[in-house]
Amino acid sequence: MGSRASEAGKLAAAKAAVELVKDGMLLGLGSGSTVRVFIDLLAEKVQKENISVTFCSTSLDTSFYAASKGLREVPLGEDPPDLAVDGADLVLPDRSLIKGGGAAHLREKVVDYFSKEFVVIVDETKVAKTAPAVVSVPLEVHPMAARQVARRLRELAEVKDVRVRASGGGKLGPVVTDNGNIVLDVVLEGVVDWREEEVRLKLIPGVFENGIFALRRPDKILIGTTSGTTLFI
Ligand code: 5RP
Repeated sequence: MGSRASEAGKLAAAKAAVELVKDGMLLGLGSGSTVRVFIDLLAEKVQKENISVTFCSTSLDTSFYAASKGLREVPLGEDPPDLAVDGADLVLPDRSLIKGGGAAHLREKVVDYFSKEFVVIVDETKVAKTAPAVVSVPLEVHPMAARQVARRLRELAEVKDVRVRASGGGKLGPVVTDNGNIVLDVVLEGVVDWREEEVRLKLIPGVFENGIFALRRPDKILIGTTSGTTLFI
């Protein structure tokens, strides 16, 4: 749960995104609290307008939540989703994103990058007006590689800290992703070219994915403001 202002922003952004949904679409559903608001509105729209949509999911959380609202999931097959709608932890001035606050970034990147249209919904607290000097980026890593990956990361000039993401409660030890992997949160300083950094982190053996979304930037970013309006960038 965020502040009341950020909840208003999430709702405004989700409302604008639901307007983009058309009958018959295959949707890509991202993960997180903003996407849950979108799912609520989508389920209402499907009911009210008597339209039919299916969705590919990016996490177990989204699968369970959307199913509880009566939406029908299909596996990601050969057909690309028509429209992916996802949240973000940070929108950078060059329109790159940092994602993975919910440790769903591996499946999110697959669905978002392969979709015909990729739309991001955020409240305005997520948007950086100037490039931040320090940014934390999550990596999804095979458990057997974790210590070697951490060692390699610490050798990179831009890496200031590396931590294994700990489970928030209900389970001892590290977060284990929907894919059975662990998450390393990496603090980066002074990155200028996010595309280059996305590739660089991806090339480390044992790293399945990172939370930098720069190689495919969103087609639309819908920013919900505290007053409930939406800005499009
Ligand atoms: C999950 C994500 C989410 O999209 C991101 O963390 C934003 O979540 P929220 O809408 O709850 O702020 O990347 O891995």
